[in-house]
Amino acid sequence: MIKHLLSIAQLSAEQIEGLVELATKLKAEKKNGTEKQYLKGKNIVLLFEKDSTRTRCAFEVAVADQGGSTTYIGPTGSQMGVKESIADTARVLGRMYDGIEYRGYGQTIVEDLARYSGVPVWNGLTNETHPTQFLADYLTIKEHFYANPANKDKKPKVVFMGTADNNVAMSLMVGCAKVGMEYAAASPECYFPPTQVVEKLRAECGAKITITTSIEEALKDADFVYTDVWVSMGEPKSVWAERIEKLLPYQVNSTAMKLTGRESTKFLHCLPAFHDLKTTVGKQIFEQFGISEMEVTNEVFESEASIVFDEAENRLHTIKAAMVASFLN
Ligand code: CP
Ligand code: NVA
Repeated sequence: MIKHLLSIAQLSAEQIEGLVELATKLKAEKKNGTEKQYLKGKNIVLLFEKDSTRTRCAFEVAVADQGGSTTYIGPTGSQMGVKESIADTARVLGRMYDGIEYRGYGQTIVEDLARYSGVPVWNGLTNETHPTQFLADYLTIKEHFYANPANKDKKPKVVFMGTADNNVAMSLMVGCAKVGMEYAAASPECYFPPTQVVEKLRAECGAKITITTSIEEALKDADFVYTDVWVSMGEPKSVWAERIEKLLPYQVNSTAMKLTGRESTKFLHCLPAFHDLKTTVGKQIFEQFGISEMEVTNEVFESEASIVFDEAENRLHTIKAAMVASFLN
């Protein structure tokens, strides 16, 4: 079905649908105790140059469920990039492991791992993309949208609020375009996605994409409202002041949710989210800038509309599907 999962752009609509169908099947099988193991005897290495809760745990639990084993390599403690190039690391790991997960910096790193290792490589987040996140988002969207029989022949509208050019937003936009979901982003102009990418998706997929500074325009008729942190891993602390100033109008709060004009709109977030003062970073930002909530208010995060923990669980089922698909080839 697929060998590597490096980006959503690399996948066809059929491949995305196939992976989400497989995830649905594996999710049901896990829940009713009939899961078949396709990774028996497979050794998978998990390379994390950045921190993670969901992605790491999803890979570890998925491999265990499927009968394989994992080695976790964190941001420090290996030779990769320090004393050994990516190409050399890839050739070593390819001799010992059956598959490689990579979370870290440039997209070229995950591409080089795929080029040189000879084994399947899955992208667990780079500066530019977060493909496994989109698979979980899409599964969650489908589960909720099509739970309503009235939506049977419809496609949902998905709206991203915030930095519309970050890794999560870019994979979401590309994914929505590929599978035919309407996508809108409300964002300050300086965080608009590259025009050539948007134009290409419109031309190649016939995608309905709106990129605007107007929250009213973007949010109208939204079925799903999505946001992400305003500063991503690897970005310097010095960008916080500008991000807060520019992005506060794009916070997902109850006013924004009302602008959809729909009672049924759901809230999505890749997580982790800054919605209260129960985190170290949240407290630091409060002390420095005096705001206690950032990209989403606690009210929306904790509301009935919020399906973020369904979305987090679906990281497991979709990551499992991506790995199983690589070995079904
Ligand atoms: N959404 C996501 O990738 O979460 P983690 O950073 O916890 O893996
Ligand atoms: N944009 C965020 C996503 C975290 C899952 C980051 O890269 O830090």
